[in-house]
Amino acid sequence: MLQKLSSSKSGSLRGISRVPGDKSISHRALIFGALATGKTRIKGLLEAEDVLATGKALASLGAGVERDPDGWCVTGRGIGGLTGAPGKLDFGNSGTGARLMMGVIAGQDARVTFTGDESLSRRPMGRVLLPLQRMGLGVEGADDTLPLTLTGTPDLLPIEYELPVPSAQVKSAVLLAGLHAPGKTTIFEREATRDHTERMLRHFGAQIAVRQDGSRNAITVTGDAELAGQDVTVPGDPSSAAFLAAAALVTQGSRITIEGVLVNPTRTGFYDTLKEMGAKLDFTNLREEGGEPVADIAVTSGPLHGVVVPASRAPSMIDEYPVLAVVAAFARGETRMEGLGELRVKESDRLASTLAGLAACGVDAQAGDDWLSVRGGGPIAGGAQIETHMDHRIAMAFLIMGLGARAPVTIDNAGIIATSFPEFSELMRGLGAPIETSKV
Ligand code: S3P
Repeated sequence: MLQKLSSSKSGSLRGISRVPGDKSISHRALIFGALATGKTRIKGLLEAEDVLATGKALASLGAGVERDPDGWCVTGRGIGGLTGAPGKLDFGNSGTGARLMMGVIAGQDARVTFTGDESLSRRPMGRVLLPLQRMGLGVEGADDTLPLTLTGTPDLLPIEYELPVPSAQVKSAVLLAGLHAPGKTTIFEREATRDHTERMLRHFGAQIAVRQDGSRNAITVTGDAELAGQDVTVPGDPSSAAFLAAAALVTQGSRITIEGVLVNPTRTGFYDTLKEMGAKLDFTNLREEGGEPVADIAVTSGPLHGVVVPASRAPSMIDEYPVLAVVAAFARGETRMEGLGELRVKESDRLASTLAGLAACGVDAQAGDDWLSVRGGGPIAGGAQIETHMDHRIAMAFLIMGLGARAPVTIDNAGIIATSFPEFSELMRGLGAPIETSKV
């Protein structure tokens, strides 16, 4: 039977915390380490199921991936050198792991079957496979969902490709494949998506150029690259820190500080939105770590009001909408979030899961194809059991709801949180939040 977790009305939260390493950067650090020659030492790697699945996949393709007292050490095989024959690679719940690794496999002399859990097996892979097939990847499968058998080639072709959806995963998969192709591979994006791949390409010594092409970003990587192993320090994940910040905002008299959080502007849309809602957030100790901007974030509870969150902000906070919807339930007036089409194809249909969770907790909310509106400010009943649909962010978002609701909120699957944030409950309890295993 799945373990359940409950959260109940909380007093004020206090303390200083650190969240685990950024998930996007952790996947990339392992992958770049495996494609480089020599050793890559990673400090602060997120040791969560998603990232460990990528590490395991790289190890079965022939890279050395080991934990040591200082962090993780990856011994790379060089571009095109991941020719181990694993047969099958299981990416669990991780869309990022699966999609980025498709870009890697495209350039290897290898035939591999990609599998995943029930949630991942429902998610569309065509968006990545289409450009990779144009480059030369062979694909066998019933449709565009896992399981799929992919055949890479040492004779990959470079392409120019405009992203049909604002997806850093698609961009990254093509750039990773481009490292293996002769000549230049260019991605055009109309909306900026997270740029960790570009930053890491630079850090590992690849030739990468980013320019403006009219209203588009053009990102060009030069192929037949040689990457050299590097030291990487992974900053705290702003998508995980979002749950702590939200917890401080839905409880009264709270003041918490989250240290060492990644504040890359392609990731901070949630925090910009909170500020517009009237939240008191202080960013201090701004610094750069391993090519990424980092800060300490202090959050103090206080009254919030509803806002319109424009579609243009979606890529910079795509994983934070469930928890923003929870915060919006505590803000006076309407919060309207637009441009949410991509939420339909995340770990669950996040628009539907969020709406259902809000309704179960007695919150006045409505949604359309790609928008969500929450009317907040009144007392929240809670007293609900939330279906997480194998979605870690739905699980954590609604545990935050319970901290401010009248009656406890229970989630049906506590285990799924380990996908991205295994320390979540313990860390929240450390700040004073009543989150407990539920028997009901
Ligand atoms: C990620 C990109 C986002 C995000 C995911 C991680 C990445 O997905 O939702 O959690 O690391 O590139 P899309 O790029 O498909 O929107």
